Amino acid sequence: MTMAARDGDTIPRNRDLAEVFGVRFFAPGSNAVVEARPTNLYHYRVFVGVHDVAVENGDCAYYLGDDARSALLRRGPARIASRHLATVIRGYMPEDKTTTIHQGTTLPYVNGCSTKQLFPPDRPGDPTLQLLYMPPHTTEQLHHIHSTARVVYVMAGRGISVVGLGSQRFSHELSPGTVCVLEPMCPHHFETAAEGLLCIPLHVFSSTGRQELDHPMLQGTHLIDPQ
Ligand SMILES: [Fe+2]
Repeated sequence: MTMAARDGDTIPRNRDLAEVFGVRFFAPGSNAVVEARPTNLYHYRVFVGVHDVAVENGDCAYYLGDDARSALLRRGPARIASRHLATVIRGYMPEDKTTTIHQGTTLPYVNGCSTKQLFPPDRPGDPTLQLLYMPPHTTEQLHHIHSTARVVYVMAGRGISVVGLGSQRFSHELSPGTVCVLEPMCPHHFETAAEGLLCIPLHVFSSTGRQELDHPMLQGTHLIDPQ
């Protein structure tokens, strides 16, 4: 793993980053299983590397094909052989789907980035698998959080993921095959330099519109001029 401190002088280990900010990085070729925390709203389990995965009735699995140039969605009960990355989402069971990933993106995003909905959410708020392209010399959003987990597979190119807050901001290099699991509310963003970055983020349940901003804490708070 390549990790660099941005402003702080200590470089945390992957485990520390997970504890403090809720992110885990896996280098290409890694083999690991990551599970949602008991405090999470939705349950998911991520299988990094080569795994034979049992998908229970009522659950489904999003995973990459053997060539890492196709994506599959299988509802349980099923048994899948995953070579790169698979994520099982509990209590969600859409139709089986398969798509190749040979064409580019189709929807504009921010800061010159663009996306394609490989598997769009069946209903607003459902999980979705996206294809995200970041051209060279850009940032994917400003520093931000998501209310649900993101499981990201780097398909091509290079970039960095910046994680943390204040003096404890760290960057991690992203290269083909890198897997990044961002837990809910992990502060982060991606950046590119000379090379663009093509990655496949899975939203473990998604959000659209203003529903997430329409709540008493935010709508009932009114900024004042301290003067
Ligand atoms: Fe993000």
